[in-house]
Amino acid sequence: MLGAMTESAFGGEVSEYYQRFRRGYPDAVADALTTSFALTREDVVLDLGCGTGQLTRVLAPRVGAVLGMDPEPAMLAQARAATPAPNVSWLLGADGDLEALTPVVGPGRLAAVTVAQALHWMDHERLFTTVRSLLRPGGGIAVVTNGEPLWLQDTAWSAALREVLSSFLGTPLHRTCGTDSASQERYADALSAAGYVVESQVISYDAALSIDEIAGGVFSAMSPAQLPAAEERPAFTERVREALSPFGPLREQVRVRVLTGTR
Ligand SMILES: C[S@@+](CC[C@H](N)C(=O)[O-])C[C@H]1O[C@@H](n2cnc3c(N)ncnc32)[C@H](O)[C@@H]1O
Repeated sequence: MLGAMTESAFGGEVSEYYQRFRRGYPDAVADALTTSFALTREDVVLDLGCGTGQLTRVLAPRVGAVLGMDPEPAMLAQARAATPAPNVSWLLGADGDLEALTPVVGPGRLAAVTVAQALHWMDHERLFTTVRSLLRPGGGIAVVTNGEPLWLQDTAWSAALREVLSSFLGTPLHRTCGTDSASQERYADALSAAGYVVESQVISYDAALSIDEIAGGVFSAMSPAQLPAAEERPAFTERVREALSPFGPLREQVRVRVLTGTR
């Protein structure tokens, strides 16, 4: 998200852009989680802050059931429509609702709680403590980030995008959404302090990006209040196209960080 979060930061059309333009996760991420928590078809996983279901979808075939939980109804509606898997249930709720879920799910019933690109919205210390009693032995919590924001990467085209966006929004951009090293260290320390065994890995791949994908990715990171009116969006996309045209075919090195805390 490009600015401060309001109640409906991911509501309305933003959820549509999110579903259409945000990257999913490669199978290697599901492999890493399956290995870290020894996931089987008997297991239940909670994907907290599931959004439009990017991680939920790659986890579903690996386990018995996935609960996708998110406080934004529009994101859940997109997730449900985009996820035909029969073993996924969608729950409206936030990290603060997990205590209430504990008696329903039962102690030790979850093999994993995954939080993908969403921990920065949560009270992570409280979450790590609450989740422990829900996890089976050998299970754990995974904090996943899906690459650096498009406008904060260390490439010339990303710097040009940053200029366009800062001038459009009238403010410098610095929010890293938990992808920076300082946030990763803070999360790792908090996992250790809560008694988890911590490991971290990075799954990297290279991918092409079109201007429409970049503009769509930017719209998906705006709050509904920041999103330009529908008739102004083509002009915004053209500004991005012009600013990025000197850089030829665009590519992104996506670094998915997977921080796991095992019980
Ligand atoms: C950037 S999206 C991530 C979606 C998806 N997990 C992914 O990896 O692309 C962040 C999601 O966190 C949700 N969220 C915000 N605050 C939350 C909270 N306190 N507890 C749980 N989810 C929250 C938002 O509604 C949004 O769907």
